[in-house]
Amino acid sequence: MILTKSQVRAFYDRFGNMQDSQSFYEDAALDDLIAHADFGQAENIFELGCGTGRFASRLLTKHLSPSASYLGIDLSLSMINIAEQRISEFAGRAKVVQSDGSMSFPLHDHSVDRVICTYVLDLLSESDIQQAISEAHRVLIPGGKFCLVSLTYGETFVSRIVCAMWSTLFHIHGYLVGGCRPIRLNPLFGKLDWSIDYRNVVIQFGVPSEVLIADLKSAPN
Ligand SMILES: C[S@@+](CC[C@H](N)C(=O)[O-])C[C@H]1O[C@@H](n2cnc3c(N)ncnc32)[C@H](O)[C@@H]1O
Repeated sequence: MILTKSQVRAFYDRFGNMQDSQSFYEDAALDDLIAHADFGQAENIFELGCGTGRFASRLLTKHLSPSASYLGIDLSLSMINIAEQRISEFAGRAKVVQSDGSMSFPLHDHSVDRVICTYVLDLLSESDIQQAISEAHRVLIPGGKFCLVSLTYGETFVSRIVCAMWSTLFHIHGYLVGGCRPIRLNPLFGKLDWSIDYRNVVIQFGVPSEVLIADLKSAPN
């Protein structure tokens, strides 16, 4: 069952710093994203669902150019407070803002060269996923990259079992797994305007994550 926005906010307000404990299965996929998304060339970065700011802090510290700017949004105020502290040393060029959970990004058309969304699409409804993709299309410059990581379906014996257990918990109540369920990112980018620059499934401790980088290839209308 997909959680409502107020359920998601309540969950992540309470979860707070514990989100970082998910790094045991997230980090290998995030490493893979960093290895392929050419963040060193990026100048304006937007992140949907920045959580505790762990990924932002890592990018700002090690991978972005010193002139690059970063904006993150999140529905949960606890997450925003944690992220704000975490990236405070980059305050001149990085900020986080609480959102109302709607999929309208607070950005001008064609104003960023990276949109990041890690472990967030997998807790959104189908219509919000479609809207997030269309917003990424609106705000990215041509040649910009939509950088995604999501829970996905298992591809090995162990990861299929883990995925089946995860899905069972999700169907009992989404709250048991933070609202997240396995999804497939690849088929969401079948339209002509996107080209898949990179795709991989990374399995860490049996948990499968899909890493996908979609380039906006044509001039947006
Ligand atoms: C599983 S956590 C992932 C956090 C972070 N991206 C990471 O990889 O560690 C999901 C995050 O998305 C946020 N979120 C969920 N739905 C959202 C929405 N509709 N708009 C903005 N943030 C949302 C949650 O508050 C939470 O911080």
